[in-house]
Amino acid sequence: MDQYVVFGNPIGHSKSPLIHRLFAEQTAQRLVYTTLLAPLDDFAGCARGFFVDGRGANVTVPFKEEAYRLADSLTARAQRAGAVNTLSKLADGSLLGDNTDGAGLVRDLTVNAGFSLKGKRILLLGAGGAVRGALEPLLAEQPASLIIANRTVEKAELLAELFSDLGPVSASGFDWLREPVDLIINATSASLTGDMPPIAASLIEPGQTVCYDMMYGKEPTAFCRWASQYGAAISMDGLGMLAEQAAEAFFLWRGVRPDTAPVLAELRRQLVL
Ligand code: ATR
Repeated sequence: MDQYVVFGNPIGHSKSPLIHRLFAEQTAQRLVYTTLLAPLDDFAGCARGFFVDGRGANVTVPFKEEAYRLADSLTARAQRAGAVNTLSKLADGSLLGDNTDGAGLVRDLTVNAGFSLKGKRILLLGAGGAVRGALEPLLAEQPASLIIANRTVEKAELLAELFSDLGPVSASGFDWLREPVDLIINATSASLTGDMPPIAASLIEPGQTVCYDMMYGKEPTAFCRWASQYGAAISMDGLGMLAEQAAEAFFLWRGVRPDTAPVLAELRRQLVL
């Protein structure tokens, strides 16, 4: 059977094997998908070993930049992201690197939540790998403006410059912003410690602004609680993005697009158990 894995370190709690097993059942695809703990000092060796027989892999923390360097060719969005979360072995044996994270985010917002990004004012919090991966797919939706705000402003400025050819993108510090926006996406890792980036509540227009946290958890994240407290129209966590980035990878490998709705429902059910 065709073999797929997700590389990471740590990798024990990954939901990807469950997601891809459900996709495979739903689409009647015969494949095996497991986790593979790569050593911190030899991701490349581990990946090359797997791909002797393996067909495809997902890559998670901390190997996405190494996977970018390992790939023989890259999709345009992976090239822009500077990181790879999906590797696919092509017919000639070479490895194609893709990045489906940003596409997963955009699909969760536009399809699952039914929120069009065209002409909207978007605020992205953070300037790390997660933001870099999201910028090209977000700008492709033609927002009116996209502000990257970060604790370390220089990092936001660097990203804004790097993506300025793709749309109206600018940089900011957290405490410079006051005017309401249509969409706030939290891509900082602050939620991991239950923190919230220090931004003004006036950025939320009650009943209008959509708030999206790339993180998720059993309980609503600190950012989602903040959003609800100040009247955001919708407050979503990143579980849908997780399911959608997986569906994009599955489609790349198998040429079949799974229905994410029942899989997302199962993920949510297991999360709150
Ligand atoms: P990822 O790959 O998840 O984006 P990362 O590259 O380590 O992770 O980036 C983490 C992001 O979260 C950064 O933008 C970081 O801000 P700095 O660039 O100033 O370090 C941001 N971040 C982490 N903890 C934060 C906190 N408590 N408050 C605000 N921003 C935080």
